[in-house]
Amino acid sequence: MPDTGCVVVVGGTSGLGLEVARHYAERGREVVITGRNSEHTAKIAAELGGSTRSAALDLTRPESVPDALADVGRVDHLVLSAISRDENTAAGFDHEAALRLVTLKLVGYLEVVHTLLSRIPPDGSIVVFGGLAKDRPYPGSVTVSTVNGGVVGMINVLASEIAPIRVNAIHPGIVGDSPYWIAKPPGVLDAVRARTPTGRLVTMRDIVDAVVFLLENRSVNAANLPVDGGTLLR
Ligand SMILES: NC(=O)c1ccc[n+]([C@@H]2O[C@H](COP(=O)([O-])OP(=O)(O)OC[C@H]3O[C@@H](n4cnc5c(N)ncnc54)[C@H](OP(=O)(O)O)[C@@H]3O)[C@@H](O)[C@H]2O)c1
Repeated sequence: MPDTGCVVVVGGTSGLGLEVARHYAERGREVVITGRNSEHTAKIAAELGGSTRSAALDLTRPESVPDALADVGRVDHLVLSAISRDENTAAGFDHEAALRLVTLKLVGYLEVVHTLLSRIPPDGSIVVFGGLAKDRPYPGSVTVSTVNGGVVGMINVLASEIAPIRVNAIHPGIVGDSPYWIAKPPGVLDAVRARTPTGRLVTMRDIVDAVVFLLENRSVNAANLPVDGGTLLR
């Protein structure tokens, strides 16, 4: 039996979660990625190679989580990065779309923690993805800003309640080379770059570095780490 447990990445088929999964797969760790579709998720796991396995779950249906993760053994690191895109405003509020995202992040993430808790050792760790929209809203971010604010409360209560397991959040700014933002018209990202003190967009590589730091540094706990190039200064 290996003396390490696995790294679980919920939302590991795309974007930032996929890059975190790739980091650990390339280093020979046992990785479990999740996505909603079992065939697609298995295909991505096969592409990652090594000891990567897959599990299919939909966080908007939290009741499906325990069965989906039944085969997962000891979990050293848990990363919660799934998201469903929701562009919502107070004036044009679509409550069904909002409910999907609120359920996914604020209920679904907690259901995963609940399900895996007995499999995480005392020196294990969790990273939850929030986002800088909690502090800097953008047009259409009413639900995104709200749930990412909720992540701060989630970190505080979990780091207290499930100690000594460490729980941290990462709050990326706009990640210029992530699939969601790279598809936007170039002017959108130019404006973000122009107001970022570093003069460059946050990259997926930057986010992976920060996630690994939060997962592995034994004294970083209950942190809400912005990784945004200092955007809030301008
Ligand atoms: N990208 C950015 O610039 C940025 C900025 C700030 C914060 N963030 C945060 O970073 C995290 C990752 O963002 P991303 O842009 O990398 O995301 P992404 O590329 O859109 O990937 C989203 C992931 O979530 C999964 N997913 C979608 N709906 C789901 C559901 N109902 N149940 C379970 N899983 C579901 C997707 O899997 P399938 O489609 O295969 O089901 C996929 O693996 C998110 O929490 C986001 O809020 C991102």
